[in-house]
Amino acid sequence: MHNDPWYILGAGSIGCLWAASLCHKGESPRLILRESSYQQFDQKRIPLKLLTPEQTSRFAVDIVSPETIHSPINRLIVCTKAQDSLSALNSVKPHLADNCQILLLQNGMGSQQAIRDALPTQAIWAGSSTDGAYLSAPFEVRQAGQGQTWIGPLSSHQQSEQGFYDLCNNFRLKVSQCDPIEQKLWEKLAINSCINGLTALFDCRNGELLDNGEKQVWLDQLITETSEVLAALGMPANALKESVYGVCQITASNLSSTCQDARKGRATELSFINGFLIQQANSLGVTVNSHHQLMDQLNATGVKTGQPATASSLCI
Ligand SMILES: NC(=O)c1ccc[n+]([C@@H]2O[C@H](COP(=O)([O-])OP(=O)(O)OC[C@H]3O[C@@H](n4cnc5c(N)ncnc54)[C@H](OP(=O)(O)O)[C@@H]3O)[C@@H](O)[C@H]2O)c1
Repeated sequence: MHNDPWYILGAGSIGCLWAASLCHKGESPRLILRESSYQQFDQKRIPLKLLTPEQTSRFAVDIVSPETIHSPINRLIVCTKAQDSLSALNSVKPHLADNCQILLLQNGMGSQQAIRDALPTQAIWAGSSTDGAYLSAPFEVRQAGQGQTWIGPLSSHQQSEQGFYDLCNNFRLKVSQCDPIEQKLWEKLAINSCINGLTALFDCRNGELLDNGEKQVWLDQLITETSEVLAALGMPANALKESVYGVCQITASNLSSTCQDARKGRATELSFINGFLIQQANSLGVTVNSHHQLMDQLNATGVKTGQPATASSLCI
């Protein structure tokens, strides 16, 4: 059993959700903030609130910054957005123990692979989650309902007795192992690549994509092309339309995270979703014109789609 403290990089919705859930398990996680954010707090032990439909729980958590970490990090969970994970990890790189276990919880793909390639001696894990959480105030996280998180190793040399298997037991979040994890990442990416960018383009809720009109025509084209990419990768592709329509129906009144980011003028994670899919399609020789068109139109309307990550951009 590990006694090393958990470090959580990024104190946003998912970072606070995981920190509170680890506290609930009896652990004492440390939240790593940006240096500038950290300096704003006089108290370095802060109250953390977790609100679920059933109850409110309160915990106390230590906050640290890259400059105030004084012991090697052996277990790290990266909870930034995909486009920030490279630079965030770079900021704590001097503190990573040689065999540090790193769990990446970013949506999409590309950032995880870039980190794995840049840190070949570390044990890199990736997660794919259907949890839904948002911050109603700093360090006050609301969890919408119980989702499912799949975690699995991205590095081939990892030993089974190490890592994050202890998160699968006595943990308030539903976490299961999955090896290889790539298929789970692809399953989520495939659905997100059809829904998220389109909701940002039309500035609409998920359910409004099923309009029997222009939006649904777009949606169907994206589903067809995405299915072709999945098939070329040797992954199950036949059920994608059912899955995408199902998500649009079940989350009909939701605004996707991409639509919310676009409304606020924030960077989206689309280069790690549609951008990654387009990259893969190019190397597989699959034509994805609708995905190209979607990204072009989003860029033309000022939505920040970003650049895909590469290991060389990590500067580690
Ligand atoms: N929220 C959900 O329900 C949900 C569900 C499934 C998956 N996810 C995925 O989980 C990931 C995190 O999402 P989120 O909703 O938690 O995002 P978020 O609320 O925006 O939180 C990200 C946090 O990372 C911090 N950060 C960025 N760069 C940093 C750095 N260099 N050092 C320290 N902290 C840094 C940000 O701080 P600043 O504000 O200062 O930039 C922010 O507090 C995303 O990939 C998302 O797609 C989210």
